[in-house]
Amino acid sequence: MNKTYWPNQWVFILAAVGSAAGLGNLWRFPALAYENGGGAFMVAFIIANILVGIPLLMLEIGLGQKTQKGSADALGSIKKGFKYLGWTAMCMSFLVLTYYMAVVAYGINFFAGAFTLGWMPSAESFFFNEVLQISSGPGEMGGIAWPVFAALLLGWAMVYFSAWKGVKSISSVVKWTATLPFVILLLLIFRAVTLDGASDGLALFFIPEWSQLFTTDIWLAAFSQVFFSLSLAFGIMMAYGSLRHRNSEITKSVIYITVGNFLVSFMSGIVVFGTLGYMAAQQGVDVASVVAGGPGLVFVVFPEVINMLPALNSLIGVLFFGMLLMLAIDSAFSLLEALSVSIRDRMPHVPTEKISLIITIVGVFGGLLYSTKAGLYYLDITDHFVVSYGLVIIGILQSIIVGWLWKGNDMVAYIKDHSDIHIEKLWLFSIRYFVPIFLTILLVLNLRTELAENYEGYSTAALIYVGLLPILLAPAVGYFLDKLTSKN
Ligand code: PHE
Repeated sequence: MNKTYWPNQWVFILAAVGSAAGLGNLWRFPALAYENGGGAFMVAFIIANILVGIPLLMLEIGLGQKTQKGSADALGSIKKGFKYLGWTAMCMSFLVLTYYMAVVAYGINFFAGAFTLGWMPSAESFFFNEVLQISSGPGEMGGIAWPVFAALLLGWAMVYFSAWKGVKSISSVVKWTATLPFVILLLLIFRAVTLDGASDGLALFFIPEWSQLFTTDIWLAAFSQVFFSLSLAFGIMMAYGSLRHRNSEITKSVIYITVGNFLVSFMSGIVVFGTLGYMAAQQGVDVASVVAGGPGLVFVVFPEVINMLPALNSLIGVLFFGMLLMLAIDSAFSLLEALSVSIRDRMPHVPTEKISLIITIVGVFGGLLYSTKAGLYYLDITDHFVVSYGLVIIGILQSIIVGWLWKGNDMVAYIKDHSDIHIEKLWLFSIRYFVPIFLTILLVLNLRTELAENYEGYSTAALIYVGLLPILLAPAVGYFLDKLTSKN
């Protein structure tokens, strides 16, 4: 069978920006900026993008493109055993996909609610009692929360039909899902900055507290955010790179992707902080007291502000949650595609539709856990372990393999021959030193906090079963997937 490639450079860049720009930009970035000295965080984030983000993106896209394989066989082509790292990365990304879809399901509930402002009178009660029907804690599973599960099925249908034909269908979808959010963000920025009190909020986001640059926290936050935000170490960027022609340009494309992703974060920050400033002014309180990140920001604070707006409330709600869904959907199907590409490498005769369908069905079953009444707790725990450990460990190994263990590594030459901008020497330096050293520090510090106290006060049993166990199982399942897809 003939392999299908991205129709052109720009579609590839849109797909990669689509994967990178997601909930991490909308709810993680603004909250991190607020906690870490506003404008100072922006500076740290830009530096982290340059030191670690761009080099790792070049590594992943370059390796996929050079070997023309998804992450399992791309890493396997360096040395056979490394393929297991690729499969492990994909199991992690599948795990993320199962819970990321639960958040998509919350988004669908709010998108539907926006047409009639169905979350009135209290968004908090709508979110926790009606949608999540939240239980008392991870120990009480409490059966399925039907609004979540029904929306989960709908969300999976969207993801399936976006990714079912692989690069062919993805190419047509990302033309919308990776461009419209920019347009909507512009409209929302215009609305946000013209609200009373917006400037007080924006001040928190922009005015730098330079002293924070001398704390470890800000750098930890900036580097891990770069990792998550650029969808690194999940096998996604290798898969997307393998769908480019072997002679495609690398460095400039990587810079466009990084800048595109940064813009989404930056613009989201303006919307979030402008709006929070308005909310504080309406309630006559200090902006700091209304700042929130995570699900609380988009599913409680935002709907509340939308209620308060002087006009066009429903329209703005529909735009906001429509944008959230677009940002999330193209990140979700990139996770599916990462796995699908590695399977297709092995089984080119099996129709792409069938591979996507099997992943979807397994994904829906996996999503059942996150659709229970304790789903939000489980999601929080799994996310914490995958992001703080799974990803970081894979990132370290990946950079050591490419930087140190690759005999006759001709990646530098390959990047040099395929780039309009020449930073390949710096690239190698970063892959050999910056990335592994920094990530190891991050890992050690994360472990230290982990051992000092239970994450978010959850019980040890919950942390082990829903957090630790899945990431420990990932290599085993990866091994099994390798055997399943091997010729004999
Ligand atoms: N980059 C996405 C975001 O910022 C999250 C994500 C990570 C998506 C990894 C896919 C893979 O929301």
